[in-house]
Amino acid sequence: MKYRVGVCQFKPIFLKVNENLQKMASLLQGIEADLVVFPELATSGYLFNSIDEVKAVAEDAQTGVTATLFGKLSKQNNCSYVVGFVEKKANKYYNSSMLINPDGNIFVYRKIHLFFEEKFFFQPGNSGFNVFKAKGGVEVGLMICFDWIFPEAARTLALNGAKIIAHSANLVLPWCQQAMITRSLENRIFSITSNRTGLEKNGKKELFFTGQSQILTTKGEIVKRLNEAEETIFVVEIEPDLAADKMITEHNHAFDDRRSGFYKIR
Ligand code: ACM
Repeated sequence: MKYRVGVCQFKPIFLKVNENLQKMASLLQGIEADLVVFPELATSGYLFNSIDEVKAVAEDAQTGVTATLFGKLSKQNNCSYVVGFVEKKANKYYNSSMLINPDGNIFVYRKIHLFFEEKFFFQPGNSGFNVFKAKGGVEVGLMICFDWIFPEAARTLALNGAKIIAHSANLVLPWCQQAMITRSLENRIFSITSNRTGLEKNGKKELFFTGQSQILTTKGEIVKRLNEAEETIFVVEIEPDLAADKMITEHNHAFDDRRSGFYKIR
C-alpha cells in the first residue's frame, strides 16, 4: 500500500495557541496526505518560565481546542495528524502528542524522557511507548524529541509493531537528525521527525531550534530533509509494509538475532 506521509516545520509563537493552530491549518491548505506530523509543543511554543504559563496553554486531549480543530481537519481532509501540545490530565501537565484519525479517534503519547528544564514544568510521561493505528490501519509509534537519545524508545516502538515513528520535536542539540538515521536503520522502520524552527525568547532565556525536519526510510535513507529555517509541509510517498521486513541479510534478522542474554539494561 502506498501511503503519503508529511512533515510540518514552522515557528510557533509562544503562548499563542489560537494563532499557532491557525498557522498549522493554513499550512495544511492544499496538502494531500494520509499522515502529517507536526512539531513538539506546536500549539504553545517551548520555553516556559513558570507553571502559570504552562497552565494557560494546557488542554484536554479529547476536548481541547487542538482536538477540536484537528478532529475537524482530519475528517475533512481524510488524513491522520500527529500534533504536539500541552496536556492537562487530572491536574497534571504533560508534554504530549496526539494522533488524530479521520474516524474521530484520538490517541495520546506523554513524553517519557523530559529534556533539561522541561523537568520543572511537566510530569514525566506515563503512557508507555504504544503503537496506534493511523488512517488505513497503518501502525504508528509516537515519540517526542529527546526520546531519540534513548535507543530503547524507538526499539520498543518497533518491537511493538510500529512501521512508522512519528517523532515530534523541538530540537536544540545538533545530533538528532543524524542519529535518527541509525534509529530507522537498526529498527528497519520509517521515521518522520518534525522539528520546529526559529529563535524563541522568554525573559532572560532564549533557544534556537534547528529545523532540518526529515523523513527516513527503513534503511536510514533521507527521503527529504528541510533546511534550518523554512516553514512548510512536505509530503512523500512510502510503502509502510517495507517496515515488516526485518531481514538485514538473508541470514540476519534485526530482532531475532539479538542476544538479549548478553545485554545490560540496568
Ligand atoms: C527536546 O527534547 N525538546 C530537546
